[in-house]
Amino acid sequence: MWMKPSLSLKLYVNYIRYFIDMKHFIDINKIDTTELRAILDRAHAMKKAFKEGNRPRLLDGMQLAMIFEKPSTRTRVSFEVGMQQLGGHALYLNSETSQLGRGETIADTARVLSRFVDAIMIRTYKHSDVKEMAKHASVPVINGLTDYSHPCQIMADLMTYEEHRGTIAGKIVTWLGDMNNVTTSWMHAAEKFGCALRIACPEEFKPPVSKLPEQIQFVHDPANAVNDSDLIITDTWISMGDTDSQAKREALEPYQVNTTLMAQARPDALFMHCLPAHRGEEVTDDVLDGSQSVILDEAENRLHAQKAILLWCLERL
Ligand code: CP
Ligand code: NVA
Repeated sequence: MWMKPSLSLKLYVNYIRYFIDMKHFIDINKIDTTELRAILDRAHAMKKAFKEGNRPRLLDGMQLAMIFEKPSTRTRVSFEVGMQQLGGHALYLNSETSQLGRGETIADTARVLSRFVDAIMIRTYKHSDVKEMAKHASVPVINGLTDYSHPCQIMADLMTYEEHRGTIAGKIVTWLGDMNNVTTSWMHAAEKFGCALRIACPEEFKPPVSKLPEQIQFVHDPANAVNDSDLIITDTWISMGDTDSQAKREALEPYQVNTTLMAQARPDALFMHCLPAHRGEEVTDDVLDGSQSVILDEAENRLHAQKAILLWCLERL
């Protein structure tokens, strides 16, 4: 006969859960470097194997819930296709068509979804909502972008850099333009993978950071910032949920990535953009479509990197 668990049993279960390391993928700086390395190695190996026709169903019958409170093309498609390629399935939820939009709490949503699915991916505004989801879920939670960070993107970026140029350790990465969620995850990656990161943005957009790790530098002048760089990155000037402003666009104009700026980086420098791009604004067509651009590999690698992230979260790496 079923008996209501005593308070001490509940406390004991919570105590045990606290020590069981649920593998949430929320931020790169919160994950051990050896684990990140293992994820990237697996991503490279799976991409190669997949192209050779070796497609093991490592997540056979498993379910991923994907919650989108912001739009997406790449994240949605790569997670959905990735789950399918691994033998699993992904479900798409958004705030308009789920009860989240009618005020159901993140905590209740996390607890309910955990009864149906094996992992949850969430793209939302507040970073604290992802943490709240992880706190109440009994399955792994993956950050598919928040206002603060975009870790899955940077795993794909790292994979892309390694594919083209080998290790990123000791290399100079330059970010130009708006300092946003993608920049934050690059800051985390710089610490973990040992590259230098220069962030070139107008003085007024520089966040009030008191102490930065020594490999991260703010550089006001875009030409100085790209000098000797191995990788140039930019992103849209107005992120999803940001207030659009003409003043911001004007302030960012000198940070546009164009052929003149690219010519001041190393001749073999790569160009990345997480996409979607606003062509002619943060970057010109000739750079996006030029020979140094690896944007399509970068987009494709979302698929391979995230398959490895899913395997890591689900203890199948
Ligand atoms: N780069 C990226 O996350 O793209 P989507 O917004 O299309 O998912
Ligand atoms: N910084 C962008 C990234 C889009 C993938 C945004 O948040 O809109």
